[in-house]
Amino acid sequence: MRAFVLDGYGAVADHVRLAELADPVPGPGDVLIEIHAASLNPIDFKMVHGDLKRVSKYQLPRPFGFDASGVVTSVGSRASKFKPGDAVYVRASRDTIGTFAEQIALGENLVALKPATISHPEAASLPLVGLTTVQMFGRAGAKSGQRILIHAGSGGVGTFAVQYAKHLGLHVTSTTSSKNADFVASLGADRVIAYDRENYLQQDGNYDIVYDTLGGAFTVDAFKVVKRGGVVISLSGPPDRDFARREGAGLLVGIVVWLMGRKVYAASAAAGARYEWSFTESNGDQLRDIAALVDGGAIRPVVDRKFDFEQLPAALTYLEAGRARGKVVLKVR
Ligand SMILES: NC(=O)c1ccc[n+]([C@@H]2O[C@H](COP(=O)([O-])OP(=O)(O)OC[C@H]3O[C@@H](n4cnc5c(N)ncnc54)[C@H](OP(=O)(O)O)[C@@H]3O)[C@@H](O)[C@H]2O)c1
Repeated sequence: MRAFVLDGYGAVADHVRLAELADPVPGPGDVLIEIHAASLNPIDFKMVHGDLKRVSKYQLPRPFGFDASGVVTSVGSRASKFKPGDAVYVRASRDTIGTFAEQIALGENLVALKPATISHPEAASLPLVGLTTVQMFGRAGAKSGQRILIHAGSGGVGTFAVQYAKHLGLHVTSTTSSKNADFVASLGADRVIAYDRENYLQQDGNYDIVYDTLGGAFTVDAFKVVKRGGVVISLSGPPDRDFARREGAGLLVGIVVWLMGRKVYAASAAAGARYEWSFTESNGDQLRDIAALVDGGAIRPVVDRKFDFEQLPAALTYLEAGRARGKVVLKVR
């Protein structure tokens, strides 16, 4: 099969190349999927740059990419949930990444039937952003009536999160640029703050939850607008203090993580609000629930651009520019 492999760390143009690999063979608990579409996430170009090499020790060259939608072509001897011909979607786990490829074999517990009402490219756009948001909102205890600030409502994560928060009955404020303000309102946001016209720190704060998709100063500043007893859930801020232990990382990584987080933890203590950060976990059961939300009309996928399979490096460069409105998808078949 053809697959894109990562063969070193650095620039996309230097280290992402198309290769001919042996077809994957499903293990006993696996399904083999013929991939029709894959979607890109910022973690993909971060991985190319080597940002994760201290915590995820990959042997290179190796295929990469997390999200896919496709059709099951065979199943392992102990796999019983799916059969050949099933249309499925998946977020690969960190040790099974490799969706920028024509096929992938992975554990059936990571997989779900794809939403029936949408195409493969649309289905491929959902797993990582959907699982991240469902898991983080769960950790925040998000519930109806609460006020949430979602940064970057026009991005891959934000387009899902705004719709999911509305589905749960939260009051949603979201930031984006003025060119995307009407679009984010069309996803259901109650209030859109265009960052090139207004400063979100000067608007009504007092949020129960801040969903920080931007990191940097946005993570510390989240504690200026979250209410006492509230929670800041961050995808791009410093890892939480439990991270190094959870990942089995060494003392040096533990010290680095502690130092990275000290301003955020000081802000959290001063504001009397919790800080939550996490790597997303793959989960087929949660993908099944997300498919039901899509087929029930609560969530619609938002695909910004589709690229042909051979154009993965261009697609990664496009995503890295940081201006995508929704998700960037690779057409594999
Ligand atoms: N820890 C985890 O498990 C996890 C999971 C998923 C994602 N993430 C991280 O979360 C981050 C976001 O991911 P994503 O897929 O949503 O990225 P993305 O799709 O590339 O985000 C692009 C969007 O961000 C908006 N944006 C940029 N600067 C902004 C600002 N200052 N204020 C408001 N909006 C702004 C842009 O809108 P404009 O063009 O209008 O500016 C654009 O629509 C990434 O760093 C990713 O790695 C982490």
